[in-house]
Amino acid sequence: MVGPGAAGAMLEGSKAYMKEFLAAAGVPSAAYGTFRDEGEALAYLATMKPPFVIKTDGLAAGKGVLVTDDLDEARRDVVAKLRGETFAGAGRTVVIEEALRGIECSLHVLFDGTTVLPLAPAQDFKRIGEDDQGANTGGMGAYAPMASMTDANVQAVMERIIAPTLDELRRRSLEFRGVLYAGVMLTADGPKLLEYNVRFGDPETEVLVPLYGEQLFDALLRCAEGRLDGATIAPSGAAVTVVLAAEGYPLRPRKGDVITGLGDDGQLSEHDEHVVVFHAATLRNAAGDFLTRGGRVLAVTGLGDTLAEARQHAYAGARLINFRGCQRRSDIALVASQLAR
Ligand code: AMP
Ligand code: GLY
Repeated sequence: MVGPGAAGAMLEGSKAYMKEFLAAAGVPSAAYGTFRDEGEALAYLATMKPPFVIKTDGLAAGKGVLVTDDLDEARRDVVAKLRGETFAGAGRTVVIEEALRGIECSLHVLFDGTTVLPLAPAQDFKRIGEDDQGANTGGMGAYAPMASMTDANVQAVMERIIAPTLDELRRRSLEFRGVLYAGVMLTADGPKLLEYNVRFGDPETEVLVPLYGEQLFDALLRCAEGRLDGATIAPSGAAVTVVLAAEGYPLRPRKGDVITGLGDDGQLSEHDEHVVVFHAATLRNAAGDFLTRGGRVLAVTGLGDTLAEARQHAYAGARLINFRGCQRRSDIALVASQLAR
């Protein structure tokens, strides 16, 4: 709907800028230090308690963040990032953060310049491996609704995070309209902001779009036209998205493998009205086969009245699709769907 523009480029483009912005706005977030100098960075790291959180300053598609309990690994990561060995220019400045503990949530809000409308909180699974082990990725799956994001919790995020952010944008004369995606940690001390993006989250969007259907497009149009005042939007049922990623993702994804299980329209060849297949990194060869073309290849969303049903549909659909070395987590929304029963 909107290009990120100045506000977006500033909020999203540099973690150091964002942290300074949050401090000025009074938005709670992790304590941090910003470093270009190796000695200073390592000295600061030595004052931190595990887990250690090391980020590249620039954009790295969610992959520039290391969260580890291992001090040596953290030190090596700082050095590699600062020397430009990983993430090239984006890593030449690092942000070292206090680790936040709690429940992580992605809250998207629409803002038309005056009125703000929150969408359903979604949970993203960032790590490549089961039980949240292994490297950070762009996201291996997601679901909504999130039972732990009660109305009171959403309201707390709106009051303590979103409202002061929009005020600060105004103070800086940064005009912003469109979607603001807040990555939030619900901690024992209330919600704290992990990151902002001025775009929809991936794979959260593959949850939100089917969950809202046409209502979402109506809300987006109203947002673009400055008519969000009075808009309401209510999700129906539940959605769970499972990402199918290439072998080697996130470091060195393989490309060019034939994907089986898809029909001519790119959906499941065994059609299922409860399943939507989103293509992220695919292409077609002359024979009409779908091929893998990058890290996160497909996102398979299951819909249902309950999370458990949605989850069942998502995995039933995902099981019908395959390609060489396909990586998928089997625990997306598992705990939440058991609790929600
Ligand atoms: P970011 O790109 O800043 O959103 O970081 C990617 C992921 O790393 C987040 O979604 C969290 O799962 C994790 N993470 C980032 N910062 C922190 C932090 N300060 N404490 C705990 N986990 C974090
Ligand atoms: N799912 C995380 C992101 O879109 O940044």
